[in-house]
Amino acid sequence: MTKKRILVTSALPYINGIKHLGNLAGSMLPADVYARYQRARERETLFICATDEHGTPAELAALEEGLPVAEYCAKWWAVQKQLCEGFGLSFDHFGRSSSIQNRELTQHFAKVLWERGHIEERTTRQVYSLDDKRFLPDRYVIGTCPHCNYDRARGDQCENCTRVLDPADLKSPRSALSGSSQIELRDSKHLFLKQAAFSDELRKWIGTRTEWPNLVSSIALKWLDEGLQDRGITRDLAWGVPVNAETWGPNPQGKQPDAESLKGKVFYVWFDAPIEYIGATKEWADAAPESNSRDWKSWWQGDSARENVRYVEFMGKDNVPFHTVGFPVTILGANEKWKLVDQIKGFNWLNYYGGKFSTSQKRGIFMDTALEILPPDYWRWYLTANAPESADSSFTWQHFADTVNKDLADVLGNFVNRTLKFTDSKFGQAIPDGGTPGPKETKLTDELERRFGIYSVFLEEIQLRKAAAELRAIWVLGNEYLADAAPWTTIRTDRNAAALSIRTAFNLIRLFACLSSPVIPFAAGAMARSLNLNPKTLLWPKGKIAEELVVLKPGHTFNVPGQGDVMFAKISPEQIAAWETRFGNSGA
Ligand code: 2FM
Ligand code: ZN
Repeated sequence: MTKKRILVTSALPYINGIKHLGNLAGSMLPADVYARYQRARERETLFICATDEHGTPAELAALEEGLPVAEYCAKWWAVQKQLCEGFGLSFDHFGRSSSIQNRELTQHFAKVLWERGHIEERTTRQVYSLDDKRFLPDRYVIGTCPHCNYDRARGDQCENCTRVLDPADLKSPRSALSGSSQIELRDSKHLFLKQAAFSDELRKWIGTRTEWPNLVSSIALKWLDEGLQDRGITRDLAWGVPVNAETWGPNPQGKQPDAESLKGKVFYVWFDAPIEYIGATKEWADAAPESNSRDWKSWWQGDSARENVRYVEFMGKDNVPFHTVGFPVTILGANEKWKLVDQIKGFNWLNYYGGKFSTSQKRGIFMDTALEILPPDYWRWYLTANAPESADSSFTWQHFADTVNKDLADVLGNFVNRTLKFTDSKFGQAIPDGGTPGPKETKLTDELERRFGIYSVFLEEIQLRKAAAELRAIWVLGNEYLADAAPWTTIRTDRNAAALSIRTAFNLIRLFACLSSPVIPFAAGAMARSLNLNPKTLLWPKGKIAEELVVLKPGHTFNVPGQGDVMFAKISPEQIAAWETRFGNSGA
């Protein structure tokens, strides 16, 4: 398993607007931590993300901004890309689901699925709003969920019970655009993916995915247990991947699609969005045509992709049904040796003071403002250490400040700062010579070895809260070692002993930079640079930890932080109060 190439995808953020920290914490950031970890282990890794640009939300948001939808998407793609870079999200490619590559692939899949008999035409009754003078897409019909009675369920999915819905299922339906209940059903021809026929095959496949977290397999199985429904994959919209049924051949029964009736329709956003994982990989390859190392198909198609690639997807729990059923049916139905996902890491919600982060109600913290007020690693650390893995987790400013102050400032930052400053004042700006490792170093090495092993396993298993707790415990070992060795005391009587402790501490800084780099890459880079090391050379330890503690030799020079220059500044009670006032301190 470990020799495999690693393909990582994060759920694609919707194009409309800036994402909040809940979006970041539930897919893009953990995917980045995992991709960075895999790269540090020198495994060939490809990390793909993109904006999810189709569907009505994009159309309506563009309308609101007074921009043609294509222009709107281009603008917000650039904004999102820049913010992702600001957070250090190390995508190999950040694509766009409106790309030509995705259009071609989506149309290809649809054609193959039709010709193999997995798509059929149905005349459906679509919701038409008399007051809005248009067909209403699923999510713009709201009403009461037939399963849980939640009264603001959307026509595509109930947020409350996560069940996927059809607008016609809703009780008391109304338009989310105008609120009007002056809506009627009109006939419209659409394409349906015959998912129900895949129930057994999916169940068998899911049965083999024993590594999936319980959150993911339970959502997938619940869906199957309730009986899979065939799924409408086209919409009466102008913006999206056009249905080009005129290019399709007959289905196995010899029937041609009714291309005329399907003209002007587009594929449902949830049909084309997951295909963009492949589309974006092709975008990545097409962006460097001269590079023969960018063979997009080798990641996605054929026996080699199926056997040699380990594909890991990251997403919030609401996305799980589309990735355990919808997209796999596309892949299985096409029967062209496309790669199926191996591991799915699903997340619960990160809440804001117990309530939901909300883009529409502007509740919570958004990626742009987060970066305005604090450096990215503060957020990366907090959101990883409190990843909503086994349950929802709740952001409060006090909890955030406590986490940053205790873990980053008191433990890691303090260790690095005092090592650099003390050494500078007593030995100058080079690592001192002298001393022979003894019991203190043995104890440190043994503990590090043990914790390093556990930490690596947690990262491998994508158990991020546990991994962060272990990483913190590793930093604590550094502080405990220094407190025990007390070079500030021994230097008075035994300069060699102090030199040994200091040399060990410097090697610990190097080791900490390496081990911390998946989670807090900016701080890891700064630590490496303060040791005059290129951050890129910090690779995951391969041998014994003891060997890691003698890499930096006597005479190795370093840079001392300037006066008042600390790695992590503590967050003050005044800052907490100011941010609570600015962003609110309630979940309501
Ligand atoms: O829920 C969301 O934010 C979707 N835009 C995720 C899409 S994931 C993938 F399938 F494209
Ligand atoms: Zn419901």
